[in-house]
Amino acid sequence: MNSESSIRIAIHGASGRMGLEVLKAANARSDCAVAAALVRAASPWVGEALAGALGAGAPDLDFVSTLDPDTPVDAIVDFSTPDALATPLAMALERRVALICGTTGLKQTQIDALKDAAGRIPVLWSANFSLGIALLKRMAAMAALQLGPEFEVEILEVHHRHKRDAPSGTALALGRAIADARREAFEDIARFSHFGSSEPRRRGDIGFAVMRAADVVGEHTVMFASEGERLELTHRANSRSIFASGAVRSAVWLANQPPGWYDITDVLS
Ligand SMILES: NC(=O)c1ccc[n+]([C@@H]2O[C@H](COP(=O)([O-])OP(=O)(O)OC[C@H]3O[C@@H](n4cnc5c(N)ncnc54)[C@H](OP(=O)(O)O)[C@@H]3O)[C@@H](O)[C@H]2O)c1
Repeated sequence: MNSESSIRIAIHGASGRMGLEVLKAANARSDCAVAAALVRAASPWVGEALAGALGAGAPDLDFVSTLDPDTPVDAIVDFSTPDALATPLAMALERRVALICGTTGLKQTQIDALKDAAGRIPVLWSANFSLGIALLKRMAAMAALQLGPEFEVEILEVHHRHKRDAPSGTALALGRAIADARREAFEDIARFSHFGSSEPRRRGDIGFAVMRAADVVGEHTVMFASEGERLELTHRANSRSIFASGAVRSAVWLANQPPGWYDITDVLS
């Protein structure tokens, strides 16, 4: 951990859409600093100045393909691809620093490797680094418990036309948080479509609905409905930058935690 107040962050996958947002978010905070911007060895970005991507106020650094052993680092943030995960994981273990991973599509063996590393370093993997969604997860679990079984739960998500998976990983995570709070098996109560079914709705099910349209960044609504009243908790993402700022805030927090496997909701104070 850094002895001064500023957390030094290395970003792996730095030339990607998220990587660039993380660079900007880290550069904008006064309690952290960009220590390294890591890209593939064959990347055309190697040797390019960060100022070219970030503009005025960028740290005086170049994109690099390896972490210089003399560069001090307190946390590594990864937004790359599942195939590249071994690199930031090995780096974090070698340096004994926090690993914040936002890469999605990881295999179970890769999640297991992250959990194994959590015995030695602090690790936070999340498919959604929005702190608003983190709070929604917590609120939805609390609402499900406090409203009780007479309130039926439906989760609606809306995303841009390019999204391929449905329902979104975040909608599934919200459903799992509710099932966990109720101590039920998510697989037994998740209901992914009402289409083509003439069966009435089963009482304890969690229903999912999906819409795809234009450029919607991401919208999730958890609805609790009983006879006569309805509570709807909605989160709307307007920009991808929220995932980057959530990841950087997580990095600043995680760099000061002991080794362990953390959840994004742990970052909320
Ligand atoms: N958790 C969240 O909140 C959240 C939010 C948004 C996105 N994501 C996830 O974050 C990941 C990145 O998304 P993105 O939109 O930024 O994708 P992207 O624009 O395709 O960026 C991926 C980056 O990873 C780099 N990369 C690939 N192989 C690498 C290697 N071996 N070593 C170092 N860098 C390597 C790529 O470099 P090249 O271009 O040179 O190949 C590229 O810069 C995805 O898994 C996405 O689903 C998570």
